[in-house]
Amino acid sequence: MVRNVAGDIAELEDEDFYVLSGLEQGMRFSEWVAREKIPEFSRLTDEEVGYRLDRCERRGLLERKTIQYVGYQLTFEGYDALALHTFAERDSIEGVGAPLGVGKESDVYEAQSYRPLALKFHREGYTEFREVNREREYTADHDHVSWLYTARKAAEREYEALETLYPAVSVPRPVDHNRHAIVMDRIDAVELGRSKLETEQVRPVLDLVLEEMATTYREGYVHADMSEYNVFVGTDGVTVFDWPQAVPTDHENADELLVRDTENIVGYFQRKYPREVPAVDADALAESIRADSFDSCEPFLG
Ligand SMILES: Nc1ncnc2c1ncn2[C@@H]1O[C@H](COP(=O)(O)OP(=O)(O)OP(=O)(O)O)[C@@H](O)[C@H]1O
Ligand SMILES: [Mg+2]
Repeated sequence: MVRNVAGDIAELEDEDFYVLSGLEQGMRFSEWVAREKIPEFSRLTDEEVGYRLDRCERRGLLERKTIQYVGYQLTFEGYDALALHTFAERDSIEGVGAPLGVGKESDVYEAQSYRPLALKFHREGYTEFREVNREREYTADHDHVSWLYTARKAAEREYEALETLYPAVSVPRPVDHNRHAIVMDRIDAVELGRSKLETEQVRPVLDLVLEEMATTYREGYVHADMSEYNVFVGTDGVTVFDWPQAVPTDHENADELLVRDTENIVGYFQRKYPREVPAVDADALAESIRADSFDSCEPFLG
């Protein structure tokens, strides 16, 4: 897990953020930003830059490397600090609390505001990028795709899906978005995969999940990563979260992904509750979602 930098934010000064955002600018052009270019990117004197780079490096917000030149790059901690600084300036959040979850490609924290919020930092592209590029460090940077870009794109896609779907679909209410991070309402519930439903709840909950999938489709999206780990079940029903990979319904693979999502959900219920949910025709179910005629899982149960 990337270190939580919320505690460092208070100690950072405006000039530290200039240097961090200068590096962010520079990283659009090369993976390691040459030391002598940083004053221009951050609009600070060379001397000031030297002082700020040291401060930020000590806090793990950036990394230095000597290749053919001395270069610097942001770490994820540095990128997190920039996003948190923006959220704080906009009063979107007042503080960062305990971790809520570590996904394969994200870190999620509680956040404080006038209501309970969740803060999700996307981490896509990081490890993959590191491995792929280890061999390429000495080559030119012409076509480099930075992890900054990959993580930022994922957050943008997720936020866009939330904004489109909320409130028609039961998703966390989107609150703010910056760089690779999104702020949304915190859902006080457990993941479907960690819940134990009473016999009489099983089919109604399956229906609720399928109804959300049908509404999602009607609103123009397929989730594309549906599983018992991306659905919350609570006292006020189900909430579907984790949307960065969602595709529009006119995407060439949308129908295939809808079938896969349906199979994943139905398959989970069949494995966990074989008595309440015996054989299900997932293809026919997916088709009813696509045709906007889904009403209940009953007709599809064997
Ligand atoms: N809005 C929220 N409210 C409360 N907890 C949340 C919220 N969003 C995410 N979480 C918690 O954080 C965990 C990771 O979130 P999410 O599934 O969005 O991330 P991910 O990295 O994309 O996951 P995956 O491992 O499925 O790829 C969730 O399992 C959940 O426990
Ligand atoms: Mg998830």
